[in-house]
Amino acid sequence: MIDPSLYSSHIPVLFEPCMRLMDPHPGGSYADGTLGAGGHSEGILKASAPDGRLLAFDLDPVAIGIARERLEPYGSRVRIIQDSYVNLGQYTEENSLDGFIVDLGVSSMQLDRDTRGFSFLQDGPLDMRFSPEQKMTAADIVNDWPEEELVRILWEYGEERKSRRIAAMICAERRTARIETTGQLRDIIQSAVGLGKEKIHPATRSFQAIRIAVNEELKAVESVLPAALKALKPGGRLLVISFHSLEDRIVKNFFRTESRDCLCPPEQPVCTCGHKASLRELTRHPVTADEGEIEINPRSRSAKLRAAVKL
Ligand SMILES: C[S@@+](CC[C@H](N)C(=O)[O-])C[C@H]1O[C@@H](n2cnc3c(N)ncnc32)[C@H](O)[C@@H]1O
Repeated sequence: MIDPSLYSSHIPVLFEPCMRLMDPHPGGSYADGTLGAGGHSEGILKASAPDGRLLAFDLDPVAIGIARERLEPYGSRVRIIQDSYVNLGQYTEENSLDGFIVDLGVSSMQLDRDTRGFSFLQDGPLDMRFSPEQKMTAADIVNDWPEEELVRILWEYGEERKSRRIAAMICAERRTARIETTGQLRDIIQSAVGLGKEKIHPATRSFQAIRIAVNEELKAVESVLPAALKALKPGGRLLVISFHSLEDRIVKNFFRTESRDCLCPPEQPVCTCGHKASLRELTRHPVTADEGEIEINPRSRSAKLRAAVKL
């Protein structure tokens, strides 16, 4: 039995704008790719009462356990699936959904659990997997990947300027003993770059980078967008909340490309590509949290919500 109080800290980000842009209605058919604690899912179920239906995905069986209890009152209107949202197409017909939402990344309930190994604030196993069924953990990356690959992920996914120094220190340390805990990794990073004057801990960016690599998060976003577009009905809404500039760039580029009728170079007088717009953006600029929300939920500070409607 899971103690829900362990996870009660998770507050759904940008909840109001999500509901406004998703606009759930009775009888509608929806999917939530990242169920988590079930905040957005519950919002959709409430707003689409009495008969709207929801398909909800998560890779994490612990999150699913919590959300299942929370969503019990909605009975057969909700179907929970322990799988990646990238497999959306296996569970939905084409042109069948009125709305799809993904709220990317890690939940505060996962960050707060030391055994999950997501946070440098807790000492736990260097794990960081969303799914326990996945083989590769953070410890495998930190101990087994070549130094150049570590530099690459720290630089690309963590935007860590001191990626070379951190990777070199990790490789020097792992020659003496395997790095098995979040505490060890945090101390190695701290000794590589010092505490500095920044507001954030020096391990923040590296932990984020390793988590993104463990779960192949950018690949997942890239593949779910076309799958979601296929699954939506004309008029259906696609909502993505991202927390990382690379994720947001993927979403922005997809929305821009899919909302254009022709992708030929501008100097070409006649269209030869035949591309037709399949989306209309509902958010020209991403929606972000206001001061009030950031105060209650600091995780919302870096959240960016983009939404589009299928044509
Ligand atoms: C930020 S939380 C979602 C919170 C949720 N919107 C709520 O209101 O509680 C992200 C969740 O997505 C899950 N997740 C991450 N990648 C996933 C994937 N590829 N497929 C399914 N779930 C995923 C994580 O396990 C985590 O529970």
